[in-house]
Amino acid sequence: MRDVLIVIPTFNEKENIEKIISEIRRQKIGADILVVDDNSPDGTGEIVDKISKQDSSVSVLHRKEKAGLGRAYVAGFKWGLGKGYKKLISMDADFSHPVSALKSLIAYCSKKSVAIGSRYVKGGKIVGWKWYRYTNSWGANYVTRALLRIRAKDATAGFKCYPEEFLREVNLDTIQAAGYAFQVEMVLKAQELGYKLIETPITFVDRQAGESKIQGELRKSAKTVFALAAGKKSYRQFVKFAIVGGSCALVDWGVFYAIKALFINWLPVDLQVIKQLAKALSFIISASLNYIFNRKWTFRSTDKKIAAQVVKFFVVAAIGLGLNSLIFYIITGLLVWRDIYGLLIATALVTLWNFFINRIWTFKEKN
Ligand code: GDD
Ligand code: MN
Repeated sequence: MRDVLIVIPTFNEKENIEKIISEIRRQKIGADILVVDDNSPDGTGEIVDKISKQDSSVSVLHRKEKAGLGRAYVAGFKWGLGKGYKKLISMDADFSHPVSALKSLIAYCSKKSVAIGSRYVKGGKIVGWKWYRYTNSWGANYVTRALLRIRAKDATAGFKCYPEEFLREVNLDTIQAAGYAFQVEMVLKAQELGYKLIETPITFVDRQAGESKIQGELRKSAKTVFALAAGKKSYRQFVKFAIVGGSCALVDWGVFYAIKALFINWLPVDLQVIKQLAKALSFIISASLNYIFNRKWTFRSTDKKIAAQVVKFFVVAAIGLGLNSLIFYIITGLLVWRDIYGLLIATALVTLWNFFINRIWTFKEKN
């Protein structure tokens, strides 16, 4: 037995499977192969059965029915971990993943890093896809990366090498995605668990034989990506922060109008000065409430250094206040739009500013 296992899921790949196996053999990279076949009607499973009888480095895992790409990989990786492989590769059967890149993929895969055969780094490319397939993939990749903040350029890549350590740590039973979103979920988990993502460029060539199974997968995958996003701690925190911010904004506005009404009668100064004063006062009140609720509820901070936290929170708030006044002034003073727009836009922008800076600086969230 060797250290490296290449896992190839198949569903109706009779034109490809024999060729890809011998092509991999020819590379002499010292890897074993496991084909995970979902009872392909075209007899792919039986073809591999024959090969594995003659070649002990090739194995096949037969599954009862087509249960999705993700499920096939989970089964294959569990099989491989059980046998003690150190590096496990995911690879398509249809030659889209270049056999010639296996060597560098294995080289970049280590205890602490996942290697990715990437189409979207310098030197990587896609050959043979129709424009709409390319646009779909590019768009899906872009949205996925933005939503989940995946640092790899190719977040949907299917050609990867995972170290045994990661596959054990991630707990494959917890993977949600049954289908193609598996690729995204795995790279996200690797990033969250602190593994380095190393991309090596590949030329992805569209399959010559057989059919793609991606039809109907996009919707399911998009659902999974949204579920993953919603499950991210930072998104839950942002929702809470927005709720706290929203409630405090109501307080802020109420106080603003009350003070403005009061000062108009009592302070003999320019209306714009009154507005700025009222805005500043209402902001200080709402910022205090903001701190208390965000510490207790949004970030559930137990940090004992409350004083330092308060100072930081107010430094952020003070800069936010400056921004707030500036934005409000630009909108109501320079653009001469109505106050309500000034309040809305200033509040929205400053909420975003406050969230990001407080999250990483004041409350020291890492992920
Ligand atoms: N066992 C099993 N079960 N295998 C499957 C299943 C399934 O439900 N669905 C697909 N496969 C196998 C195919 O037989 C093939 O070997 C491999 O998985 C990839 O399937 P394709 O249908 O060729 O996928 P693709 O070319 O559209 O998508 C490729 O690029 C995507 C990014 O654009 C794959 O590499 C994806 O993983 C990748 O996300
Ligand atoms: Mn393919």
